[in-house]
Amino acid sequence: MNLDKDFWNDKYLANQIGWDIGSPSTPLKEYIDQLTDKTLKIFIPGAGNAYEAEYLHQLGFSNVYVLDIAPQAIEQFKNRYPDFPANHLITEDFFEHQGQYDLILEQTFFCALNPNLREKYAHKMSELLSKKGKLCGVMFRTPMNTEHPPFGGKVEDYKNIFNKYFSSVSFEDCYNSIKPRMGNEAFVKLIK
Ligand SMILES: C[S@@+](CC[C@H](N)C(=O)[O-])C[C@H]1O[C@@H](n2cnc3c(N)ncnc32)[C@H](O)[C@@H]1O
Repeated sequence: MNLDKDFWNDKYLANQIGWDIGSPSTPLKEYIDQLTDKTLKIFIPGAGNAYEAEYLHQLGFSNVYVLDIAPQAIEQFKNRYPDFPANHLITEDFFEHQGQYDLILEQTFFCALNPNLREKYAHKMSELLSKKGKLCGVMFRTPMNTEHPPFGGKVEDYKNIFNKYFSSVSFEDCYNSIKPRMGNEAFVKLIK
């Protein structure tokens, strides 16, 4: 299966977006709620409808960047939340992106990528983080589909990959997942 720009863009055009929960997930929301530094440069790749970005913006975070490979996802976000700075919206392949961020948020992006890109994901994420920057969010911690997303996995396997690129790697069973994902998610905190 070719999980390219057209694959994802067609999903948004056909409104086949079963992953979209219509609001920031509780783990992300509660993580955001304890952030105090509103100047943090925050990056949300594979953001889709980017509810986290909207929430951050409403809280006064002014340095938030949203990226998605699907132009339709970015377009939809722009239309839904026109207050968000248009020059912080990026339509691009994550693996091509250049930038430097203090915090990157992960929400159902890792599981959307072909598992053979996980090493590349880890390397790219560490490149995009500033010194001591963090990647935080949720990842599925149980095996899932093998032919199409979402792809799950095991925390032990994830740790083997991320340990190569991060100085601190923590995966905790997620206690505040949304109901349909309860028991299947880990909250991940990686420090460059
Ligand atoms: C399962 S969806 C999750 C969207 C959003 N994070 C959410 O939770 O609703 C995966 C997203 O990753 C995007 N995506 C997939 N591959 C990508 C890539 N290489 N670069 C940037 N975005 C990508 C897709 O377009 C899609 O919006």
